[in-house]
Amino acid sequence: MIVLGIETSCDETGVALYDSDTGLRAHKLFSQVELHAEYGGVVPEIASRDHVRKLLPLINQCLSSAGLERTDIEAVAYTAGPGLIGALLVGTATGRSIAMALGRPAIAVHHMEGHLLAPMLEADPPIVPFVALLVSGGHTMLVEVRKIGSYRILGETLDDAAGEAFDKTAKLLGLGYPGGPALAKLAEHGNAERFPFPRPMTDRPGLEFSFSGLKTHTRNLWLNSDKDPTTQADIAAGFQLAVVATLTIKCRRAMQQTRAQQLVVAGGVGANRSLRQGLLSEGKKRSWKVSFPREEFCTDNGAMIALAGCQRLLAGQCTDTRLQAYARWPLDQLPPLETVN
Ligand code: KG4
Ligand code: ZN
Repeated sequence: MIVLGIETSCDETGVALYDSDTGLRAHKLFSQVELHAEYGGVVPEIASRDHVRKLLPLINQCLSSAGLERTDIEAVAYTAGPGLIGALLVGTATGRSIAMALGRPAIAVHHMEGHLLAPMLEADPPIVPFVALLVSGGHTMLVEVRKIGSYRILGETLDDAAGEAFDKTAKLLGLGYPGGPALAKLAEHGNAERFPFPRPMTDRPGLEFSFSGLKTHTRNLWLNSDKDPTTQADIAAGFQLAVVATLTIKCRRAMQQTRAQQLVVAGGVGANRSLRQGLLSEGKKRSWKVSFPREEFCTDNGAMIALAGCQRLLAGQCTDTRLQAYARWPLDQLPPLETVN
């Protein structure tokens, strides 16, 4: 089955064509980063309008790079939430319209299920059961996955998501928007040991996260510092190490609690090299398998949406023709894969 995947939940227009027999046929991405940079964050109305401009051209580019015609599309998968409602509605309306015009089924995909299944785009895909660490700009959660489609949330952040903490901390350090990757780059040259940072919520049992204190800690350090470039890099490195160490401790607990042998890491912060190295070496020490998508499929993309939609379509699910998008949508309320909508 050839599935067209559409992702427009935030500031990236992502499109892909996924073949259930042969895998990914083509994918294209347009990042709106430059459009939002001057405002220091995503402006929802600008995001929606730009998705309108870019989506159809990207679909055409994808079709031609895969050597396919529109009529070869056998189903459409679109992100219906969670995310910015206006942005989601662009992908939802476009996806549903294409499906209707072609007389094909369409399926509403949960953005975080897309992230969670993204490692399945790779050559050595994870096999259930596993624990997933989802770390994006909007979410940080540990999820127990016994079957694809059935998700038990083990712990979530009580305040900022990991990516949000990276972005806000980067802004404090004057690194602009989007700060996560810039902060990570700066941290590579810093001395992570110079400034001690806390490891929030690791001194008590549980799998919840809290990252807003790290941001405040950084603010205090930076305001009272010499604001030298070395100091800036050392603070960035200390912050990054604190996030990586905290995530690693919580992953270890979740793996012990569920007795899982496999950890899946996905979402934008999954592209962070230090996190990847940290969790890989932890996995080696404890004999877990650790799977990540390649870096470009950690951040938002259409390929993960096409793949996630394809799994549900193959299980006989599809979504009715209502144009429905959800700013909030709990991951653990998705129908299990055996159930037909
Ligand atoms: O998954 P994603 O593309 O969008 C959401 O679903 O939110 O994640 C974006 C987040 C941003 O906060 C971004 O700063 C962060 O992921 N991010 C990173 C890195 N690359 C992206 N954070 C730390 N290190 C990176 N290399
Ligand atoms: Zn995302």
